[in-house]
Amino acid sequence: MTCEEVLKAVFPLLEGPDLASCMEVCKQWKDIAQDDYFWKCICAKRWPSICKRPNPPTITYYKLYQTFYKRQHCRTLLPPRLSFDDLEFFIDIWAENKLIFSEVVPGPVLETGIKVPPPGICDMLRIHLEGPEYKMTLPLEPRFTVPLSQTVSVSVLVGRKDSNKVACIINKSLFDYIDRTAYRAMAFDYLDFSPLYPFISGFRAWISLLFMEDGNEGVIDVFGIEMDFCDAANSKDEVLWLLDMLDWK
Ligand SMILES: *[C@@H]1O[C@H](CO)[C@@H](O)[C@H](O)[C@H]1NC(C)=O
Repeated sequence: MTCEEVLKAVFPLLEGPDLASCMEVCKQWKDIAQDDYFWKCICAKRWPSICKRPNPPTITYYKLYQTFYKRQHCRTLLPPRLSFDDLEFFIDIWAENKLIFSEVVPGPVLETGIKVPPPGICDMLRIHLEGPEYKMTLPLEPRFTVPLSQTVSVSVLVGRKDSNKVACIINKSLFDYIDRTAYRAMAFDYLDFSPLYPFISGFRAWISLLFMEDGNEGVIDVFGIEMDFCDAANSKDEVLWLLDMLDWK
């Protein structure tokens, strides 16, 4: 078989993203992969009925694939109307019913986050903290310790200085999931959005206690707090847009 015959035999077996990658290889591969027959096969797997029409609903099946099949990677956001300078976060944490942490945290402090992870934290947590996902972190000074047997709960409100309004981020959630490999105790709550955005729901605010093993069995040594909205927002601008859409009162 010639090279061309091999490609023509293999291309119909590929998934869309792989066929698209093949188009990047060289001119010959591109010319062959551009045959709309291959793209018709791919579209037919996803939307079989569309291939029952004599002509595709767009110019080519390749175009149809590009428009509806490919994941849209980049969404362009307008600059957010809020900034971290406008925000302050009210964070309260209880162990059983005793208040163990209660602070007003200025937005820029959460934005700056934990610059240098403290010595002694486990590798998984270090990798998580240095990872690309957008997160807000707060170093705790002084730290606090909590016995693992206690029920720990958290509330977070956010205030904006431009309008003096407040929104609820977390309403008394329990840190009931402990990730033992990354040394994080996690809690979440569903965000309440403004009635201006009636079709949005189901996005969570996550908050974690970042800890290391204390010398004492069964006690965690909390050195930081992390907050993120990883369901929906993975950059600073996305987080600010999400916060702007909350039910501010
Ligand atoms: C917080 O939770 C309490 C008790 O579940 C509820 O009564 C209250 O309405 C909630 N507040 C907000 C802002 O969601």
